[in-house]
Amino acid sequence: MMHNTQTNAVPSMIDNSIPHHQEFLRDVLHGLSQPQKTLPCKYFYDERGSQLFEAICSTPEYYITRTEIDILKRYMADIAAIVGSHCDILEFGSGAGIKIRLLLDGLTDPRSYIPIDISMEILEASARELAQQFPSVQVIPIVGDYHKDIQLPDAFRRQTPQRKLVFFPGSTISNFTRPEAQTFLQRIRRLLTEGDGLLIGVDCIKDTEILNAAYNDAAGVTAAFNLNLLHRIKNTFSTNLKPQHFFHHAYFNAREARIEMHLVSKLDQIVEVEKTRFSLRKGETIHTENSYKYALPVFASMAQQAGFTTGKVWQDPGQLFSLHYLTAH
Ligand code: TRP
Repeated sequence: MMHNTQTNAVPSMIDNSIPHHQEFLRDVLHGLSQPQKTLPCKYFYDERGSQLFEAICSTPEYYITRTEIDILKRYMADIAAIVGSHCDILEFGSGAGIKIRLLLDGLTDPRSYIPIDISMEILEASARELAQQFPSVQVIPIVGDYHKDIQLPDAFRRQTPQRKLVFFPGSTISNFTRPEAQTFLQRIRRLLTEGDGLLIGVDCIKDTEILNAAYNDAAGVTAAFNLNLLHRIKNTFSTNLKPQHFFHHAYFNAREARIEMHLVSKLDQIVEVEKTRFSLRKGETIHTENSYKYALPVFASMAQQAGFTTGKVWQDPGQLFSLHYLTAH
């Protein structure tokens, strides 16, 4: 019989800041009291939210995940040659780990892998599996919110002859506003030493119909994902909130070059959260997320301003998606 109780496969978690109750409440109250109501997208990812997100990634309409995996597979030899051997890989938002497996397999003797994720459940499970699957790679999971400054293990902060590689797939950079994305790139830059790399997936501007379909899948998974945020609030706080009084609405805002996700109120209603009341008119929305789409030169100039030299860009034949290799300068 195999013993599955080994707990030392994964080193203990470094807990940067799990969003706790008070902070969640403060963010909800703050978001709902804005003229355009909002809720921070980081709260999408409770256990159910993370599962729904995985499901979005395999809907036929959502091309992003498939396409990026395709690009990684197609150009892995090229990527490995550019990154070099024995690198330390840091990933923000470790997710389900399909892409990192490709990378750990494809790169030459990667030394360590440091996933940082807000969802402890996902992080623990995937870190343990990865540590088993890649015994030569040191796996150091960190629970944390990369919207804030992250505390890294010493080994990663020290200057080493090995190259550090930050891996940021999934076009998660899209979910920042332009100024936030700029700040985020600068923050990554500060974690790095000259010559270190950033391998980052960025979704491209394309046909509005393809974009709109991707965020309005026919099976309603993206809708369920968006509405799950309301379920989470309902399950966490004392509130009269009824998720069924809202519907999912996502559309491409061409002027801002972004998909906007909203929750639309089906009726005039008063929502009370922990004794604070908010009124919503029928048709009024809670803006939950943006997904910015970038023309290649626009992203390149943003990266340059953040202290990176632009290197190779890989795209799928349909040019739906781009994978950029940037070097810290
Ligand atoms: N960053 C990806 C995107 O913008 C994935 C993603 C984040 C997403 N939040 C989402 C996809 C909400 C659908 C809905 O597409």
